[in-house]
Amino acid sequence: MTSATSLFSPVEADLRLLTENLKNLVGERHPILYAAAEHLFGAGGKRLRPAIVLLISRATMPEQDISPKHRRLAEITEMIHTASLVHDDVVDESDVRRGVPTVHSSFGNRVAVLAGDFLFAQSSWYLANLDNLAVVKLLSEVIMDLAEGEILQGLSCFEANLSIEAYLEKSYYKTASLIANSAKAAGLLSGVSAELAMHLYSYGRHIGLAFQVVDDILDFTGSMESLGKPAGSDLKSGNLTAPALYALEEKPYLESLIEREFAQDGDLEQAIALIKDSQGIERSRELAAQHAHAAVQHLSDLPHSESRQTLINLADYVLSRLY
Ligand code: IPE
Ligand code: IPE
Ligand code: MG
Ligand code: MG
Repeated sequence: MTSATSLFSPVEADLRLLTENLKNLVGERHPILYAAAEHLFGAGGKRLRPAIVLLISRATMPEQDISPKHRRLAEITEMIHTASLVHDDVVDESDVRRGVPTVHSSFGNRVAVLAGDFLFAQSSWYLANLDNLAVVKLLSEVIMDLAEGEILQGLSCFEANLSIEAYLEKSYYKTASLIANSAKAAGLLSGVSAELAMHLYSYGRHIGLAFQVVDDILDFTGSMESLGKPAGSDLKSGNLTAPALYALEEKPYLESLIEREFAQDGDLEQAIALIKDSQGIERSRELAAQHAHAAVQHLSDLPHSESRQTLINLADYVLSRLY
């Protein structure tokens, strides 16, 4: 697998600076937040979202250096993402993230909820200070979408009739909205045309959907060591993702197991075995690949550069996480 770090080489120095800034920005207000920030931003996050923002910033400013606003946008994007993870881990009761104990398992639920709120609030403050109303609108919609995604997921638990379309819509809210809107916002900060801004949005949307489908496959095929977070938890908690939804078309008994919420001994193991025995994983891979390829089509209007090439390679990187 290509590591994210070697892939992101055109913005490696930018990302290093970003990590330092995030620790300082979040940590300066309170010792608990400092501990949470060290913990969150020092640990092994892939920094995919800020890398995309920085790469788009560079690719749309071919003659000049990127501005402090581009850098701040990348920081805001990672802050919003991290806030959503802190809250997601409370909802999912997950104990490990980025290879280290989660905020709620180290400091308790109260601190985790407050730390997540603080990160969201702080990101809004830095966002407002960009003094760009269009960008403020894009990213504040993302914060709404993230909450909506978690709510939709909560409401559709153990819902065996969930369609792939509804699953993808939920995945847009949970994951793709942030990548799409921050990609577009990076373009707006560079002053790109409305048309190119739409292409950047679509690139982010498709990358985001591919990324979530891959994450959902890895929940079946990966391990705690490789993922830095627990595997095998989606199905158990009733979060029906692409592999399960496709498997349901082939394995009617899976529906009975889901409907009784794996209440009997061995139900969960049996459900996993049915999914692995079906075309569910393979069809999910194809779905992710379709979105990764669709993403790249939206980059054709960008001038050729190392950063543009990295944005293209990133589509392969998302899929390569499966191998
Ligand atoms: C995790 O995102 C949440 C999903 C949208 C699947 P990442 O896998 O990008 O998490 P980090 O930032 O690398 O920890
Ligand atoms: C992403 O989805 C969570 C958010 C974007 C809030 P997951 O629930 O799949 O994330 P992981 O698997 O816990 O990283
Ligand atoms: Mg989760
Ligand atoms: Mg997941």
